[in-house]
Amino acid sequence: MKHLVILAAACLAACTVPSQGRPADTLAGSATSPETTSAKERSAPTLHGDIPIVIAHRGASGLYPEHTAPAYKTAIEQGADFIEPDLVVTSDGVLLARHDNFLSATTDIADHAEFADRKKVRATPLGEKEDWWVDDFTLAEIKTLKARQQFEGREMKYDGLYDILTFDEVMDIALDAAKSGRKVGLHVEAKWPGEFAALGFDMPDLMVAAMDKKGLKAAGIPVYIQCFEPPFLAEFASKSDLPTIQNMVGPPYAAMLGLDYKLEDIHTTGVGAEKSMILNADGTTSDFVERAHKQGLLVHVYTVRDDHPGEGFADSRAEFRALYDAGVDGVWTDYPATGLLVRDAE
Ligand code: G3P
Ligand code: CA
Repeated sequence: MKHLVILAAACLAACTVPSQGRPADTLAGSATSPETTSAKERSAPTLHGDIPIVIAHRGASGLYPEHTAPAYKTAIEQGADFIEPDLVVTSDGVLLARHDNFLSATTDIADHAEFADRKKVRATPLGEKEDWWVDDFTLAEIKTLKARQQFEGREMKYDGLYDILTFDEVMDIALDAAKSGRKVGLHVEAKWPGEFAALGFDMPDLMVAAMDKKGLKAAGIPVYIQCFEPPFLAEFASKSDLPTIQNMVGPPYAAMLGLDYKLEDIHTTGVGAEKSMILNADGTTSDFVERAHKQGLLVHVYTVRDDHPGEGFADSRAEFRALYDAGVDGVWTDYPATGLLVRDAE
């Protein structure tokens, strides 16, 4: 369980809205400023000169409970280039679209009396945590739950309405969209693959088989595979030619969690960088994107949120603009409409 615990902490670090410390008077400009030009017009220095992709982080999760059908479908309607399912595994080996390996934060499991005695204490880096753990539940049991919003200030009226989705069901949403002429990519993250391997579940095999069975390649659905764990990505690359993204977490957590690998040692298609790696606290931009691009690595960056812009930014539009200006190749956001608005501003 140690590995899972370590990655849980990484997740906690990644999920925390980072403090950019970027002074407002040093911002590159507001998206509404009359003299601003669009990322397209400025030909932002992405690796291949393409416009950066907007990745709907857990769907349009700022608007709907994360990883639900309305969250994904809204992101697609808004024009997101990719939707992002995080994947975990049930006790019967089914890939689920869920960020956490525990269930209390984003489902109504606490209201299910029949599962009350299934709550268990596990150790975490932040202390012991008592919760319901996804690998203790079958898919049939998970399907009796409904999703809920976990973040204060976001719309709660959808709580209790939507099912927990399998990876198959997320792929079906993308395939259905493609059939109706709206092609959206899948930016898929394997969560805790080392831990699930210890439980007997080979996530690379499960994922490759699931995607092959759905015919994503034949349907022309673009796919990225991302993970914080290098061994998973190495194994996946040995079994698939899909592009891989090595997720990275910034200080101090990288060193604390054993995820302090050097950019120069990464040989995936790209990296998933935390925002503070690119935007310095003093209002300047780091050399991270330049170094990554020099190695031929794409840079995707997480996570921009309208309701929690990075410290020092007037709003998320300014934050998107700064990241596009820095040359990132993609941005994860809970609010894809805003990311697209800034990117495509005329
Ligand atoms: O996967 C990278 C990005 O999604 C941010 O991480 O913790 O929200 O999955 P997380
Ligand atoms: Ca993710």
